[in-house]
Amino acid sequence: MTTLGHLVVFSGSGISAESGIKTFRASDGLWEDHPVEEVATPQGWQRDPERVLGFYNQRREQIRKAQPNAAHKALASLEQAGFKVTIITQNIDDLHERAGSSQVIHLHGEILKARSSVDERMCYPLKGNIALGDVCDKGSQLRPDVVWFGEAVPLFEEACAIASQADFLLVVGTSLAVMPAASLLSYIDYDTPCVLIDPDADALSPPGVAAINATAGEGVPTLVEQWKAQGKLELP
Ligand code: APR
Repeated sequence: MTTLGHLVVFSGSGISAESGIKTFRASDGLWEDHPVEEVATPQGWQRDPERVLGFYNQRREQIRKAQPNAAHKALASLEQAGFKVTIITQNIDDLHERAGSSQVIHLHGEILKARSSVDERMCYPLKGNIALGDVCDKGSQLRPDVVWFGEAVPLFEEACAIASQADFLLVVGTSLAVMPAASLLSYIDYDTPCVLIDPDADALSPPGVAAINATAGEGVPTLVEQWKAQGKLELP
């Protein structure tokens, strides 16, 4: 039982950047070298499943080698300190979990799981990679358990319900460019404080959202230490 308040974290690829995982929209980001429509849409999958599997197999291998950074660890430590922490992440990596966070919702899926291409409820943990010819129990090709552009976001409603319960919303490392995920910010109560930590926060923060221009590895531990010292979630 916690009395210290409920922090909801909304994280994007920037929180994993200091773990060596590329973001998407930077000039050297993932979508520069890999056209979205080829590797992250149902149409791309139909055209060339081998290419799509290759793209995610490569990313999965990088993610397995990566380690949680100071930001992931600080958020996990806040739970240990008695705060309720729910993480809603756009990331498909497992770095929040490996850092020790126990409540993590992956809005855009999880790269370490495979799923049937005919029935999204048929989902399997992955030890290795996915090859062409690997099939689900219904005999259809396995695909990564990630949400592609043009697909529904099945956990969005649940995420909005959680956001509406937040005492504080901490947004970290996201350009807020992708819907519906980014609209999560509008589901918090009108008087719930909200902060964005991002090197580009000044430019990205919507009205009413406080901006902290910092990397996740610097900004998140600083704020977390403040909250632990105060025993409550307050704006810095
Ligand atoms: N610490 C914090 N933020 C950082 C860092 C860092 N060290 N480095 C970069 N960033 C920030 C960038 O300033 C940018 O605002 O991370 C953000 C990354 O933005 P995007 O590349 O647009 O990624 P994201 O917001 O996670 O994308 C959302 O788009 O294509 C999809 O499905 C994919 O989940 C992803 C979604």
